[in-house]
Amino acid sequence: MKLLVTGGAGFIGSNFVRYFMGRHESAVVTLDALTYAGNLANLEPVLKNHRHTFVKGDICDPAAVDAAMAGADAVIHFAAESHVDRSIENAGVFLQTNVLGTGVLLEAARRHNIKKFVHVSTDEVYGSIAEGYSGESSHLHPNSPYAASKASSDLLALSYHATFGLPVVVTRCSNNFGPYQFPEKLIPLFITNALEDKPLPIYGDGLYVRDWIYVDDHCAAVEKVLFAGREGEVYNIGGTKDRTNLSITDLILQKLGKPQSLKKNVQDRLGHDRRYAIDSAKIESELGWRPAFTFDEAMEKTIGWYLENREWWGAIKSGEYRAYYEKHYARRLAES
Ligand code: NAD
Ligand code: DAU
Repeated sequence: MKLLVTGGAGFIGSNFVRYFMGRHESAVVTLDALTYAGNLANLEPVLKNHRHTFVKGDICDPAAVDAAMAGADAVIHFAAESHVDRSIENAGVFLQTNVLGTGVLLEAARRHNIKKFVHVSTDEVYGSIAEGYSGESSHLHPNSPYAASKASSDLLALSYHATFGLPVVVTRCSNNFGPYQFPEKLIPLFITNALEDKPLPIYGDGLYVRDWIYVDDHCAAVEKVLFAGREGEVYNIGGTKDRTNLSITDLILQKLGKPQSLKKNVQDRLGHDRRYAIDSAKIESELGWRPAFTFDEAMEKTIGWYLENREWWGAIKSGEYRAYYEKHYARRLAES
């Protein structure tokens, strides 16, 4: 089998490429534009493997996509703009990559007779729910430009199954954490800021709830969907580890032996979704997938990885991203 993985130099994509290549003899082509979030260092363990090919290219470019997809049997589509705060500041690139880029890939998949197209969507498409759990047939209510762009691409992918019979499967996963996550997302930002004795910026009252999943568990679920997911179907992938942001902050401070005084309340995110919670019974009963890691085990592993890989995140935090983050943080602080 030859697999095309888009966005494979990002957080989840690179974890998936390493996970998959360690378990299967397949050839893997990674197509990634290397935006601010893409990093070849994430793929270091497989870059010299003869079964792996890295292609720098934009999913919005039909010629680049055609070349990368040639000879592929299946596509796992991770490439996206993925950070909600950035979508609030500048939605344009989210529409471009997440919606139009997905359209380019789907058209190419038809031409290349792709046997399975796994579209990696998100639980954010369901929007906030006060109680209970969103199932695959719950209505979609995306609230941020990021979530709306993901809902659009998710529905576009399903339309290619209904209209053209393209063998599409959509996954909707909850909040991932683990090694190689770009330090703008809650968990890696707070771990690395705490290690640097910098403030941990808590949006609003900090009582927002997310379902957290260790990235390896997400990779295992995508592997199941690739081999056994039914075409035209949607599978929720959740960690059943609902936590408030404040409880995660306290855990990080406690595990690192850092003081509560590092907590800093700042201006809230616009349109901030209060609670995400999904029901993963379908993938559990149909495909036999279950998360293997408890939240505590996964946090131990994640904190341990950031402690041992200061060079990786130090380079990111002292590079171009530093100026962006400092501006973003100063504005939130001033407006709080
Ligand atoms: P990420 O931002 O870490 O990585 C995205 C990758 O896509 C980067 O390597 C980037 O260079 C690449 N990319 C961006 N635009 C591109 C373009 N135009 N052409 C080619 N490559 C491009 O994101 P992530 O957190 O690893 O998320 C991966 C996917 O999983 C996304 O589709 C996201 O919506 C989805 N998802 C993420 C989470 C989460 O908690 N992080 C949860 C559910 C679903
Ligand atoms: O639910 C899945 C989604 O999870 C994915 O689709 C997205 O790609 C991914 O980024 C993530 O979105 P969130 O917005 O939930 O993740 P983030 O880490 O940005 O924020 C998690 C929570 O923490 C949210 O309530 C906002 C809050 N937060 C975040 C940051 C970065 C803070 O309080 N302070 C911060 O500095």
